[in-house]
Amino acid sequence: MIQNGRIGRVEHAVDLIRFPNTLSQNAEEIEARSRNCIFVGTMHNSPYFIDFGLLMNPHIFICGVTGSGKTYLMRSLMLKLWAVGGATLLVLDFTGEYYTFASFAGGATNDPKNADMLMEEMNNGIIYFGLKDIAPEQAKVRMAESIMGAIVKRMRTGRVGRRVFLLLDEAWKLLEGSVALETLLREGRKYGYGLVFSSQLLEDIDLAMLSNAATVFLFRLQNRRGLDRLAVNYGLADRHVAAIQSLAVGSCIAVQVLTTGKRSVCMIERVHGIEVEDIVCIVSGGPMRLEIGRRKFENCIRKNCGAEALGDTLSLNGSEGRIELARLISLLLRHCSGDAVLAAMRELAVDEGDIADAFAAALAAQVGANGV
Ligand SMILES: Nc1ncnc2c1ncn2[C@@H]1O[C@H](COP(=O)(O)OP(=O)(O)OP(=O)(O)O)[C@@H](O)[C@H]1O
Ligand SMILES: [Mg+2]
Repeated sequence: MIQNGRIGRVEHAVDLIRFPNTLSQNAEEIEARSRNCIFVGTMHNSPYFIDFGLLMNPHIFICGVTGSGKTYLMRSLMLKLWAVGGATLLVLDFTGEYYTFASFAGGATNDPKNADMLMEEMNNGIIYFGLKDIAPEQAKVRMAESIMGAIVKRMRTGRVGRRVFLLLDEAWKLLEGSVALETLLREGRKYGYGLVFSSQLLEDIDLAMLSNAATVFLFRLQNRRGLDRLAVNYGLADRHVAAIQSLAVGSCIAVQVLTTGKRSVCMIERVHGIEVEDIVCIVSGGPMRLEIGRRKFENCIRKNCGAEALGDTLSLNGSEGRIELARLISLLLRHCSGDAVLAAMRELAVDEGDIADAFAAALAAQVGANGV
């Protein structure tokens, strides 16, 4: 159940995402099949599940051109693996696209330097490392590698008691040659650690490494040479290779290697994701932190302060949708009266004391800027 843009409780999340509702099959059979399996999407009116009990290993690789649906699938897998699969998810987020989703599970954090400490609490559900704002690129990669090093160390020193997945979107190119990545792929299975990773380009991928992933989702791909290499590796038929080149957004071909050594190739017509509303987070210099659904925030600012003021607030959007209260108030005061700004802040349920402090700070900044 989503309330105010948030999934209230894990049990509700399970109800929400375990059971697909557009199916023509016997409901009991689907329900029985779906226990502990991860529902991915529909093929010709029947559901497609990942059943880790049947697979050679837990690793999942996702490939496709830009805009084909990789992140959409990965975000949905993240929530499902956590809520339905009962797994711990470690998310290394290079782009900031996972923050809102991860924060639903209450495990969001922005400080990747705390990797060791966070992993002591491996039962926490989703453990999020936001790397978006780390620059330059090499520093980001170094940080990611050090987190992965900590994960490998943790993996080798003891069992967590539940399955663990590491999510790396678009990371293949960045982390190419990473020893930790290789170790996770080669040794993860025996410790119950799975890697969910993606790439836009098949050419980037070392096929020997890729053969460690028992599940591969192929969204639309164009490079014929890369596809031919993959077809040989996974025994894909010509019709599959042709289909992959003209897939619609959200459609993919799923290839799985089973414990029996057999391969299954299925066409998923539509990946079923979970829609989660983006969140705006208003913060002050102190402990205040107020999370509001983006739609509610935008409607309130537009109504009280005007469309132009709303347009300007976009420039304030810091990392992970964070907006500093005094800066917000100061910006809104340029467009409308103090009364209108006060009404907007009250409607957003900002604490009266925080409003007063932020008004004072905004006015002091204005006085300073005017040189009075
Ligand atoms: N199964 C789907 N159902 C509905 N919308 C989808 C689906 N898959 C993707 N989309 C939408 O298509 C757009 C592109 O998807 P997404 O961001 O997942 O692409 P991507 O492959 O990760 O692209 P990039 O390589 O640029 O990161 C998004 O707006 C997303 O919401
Ligand atoms: Mg993406």
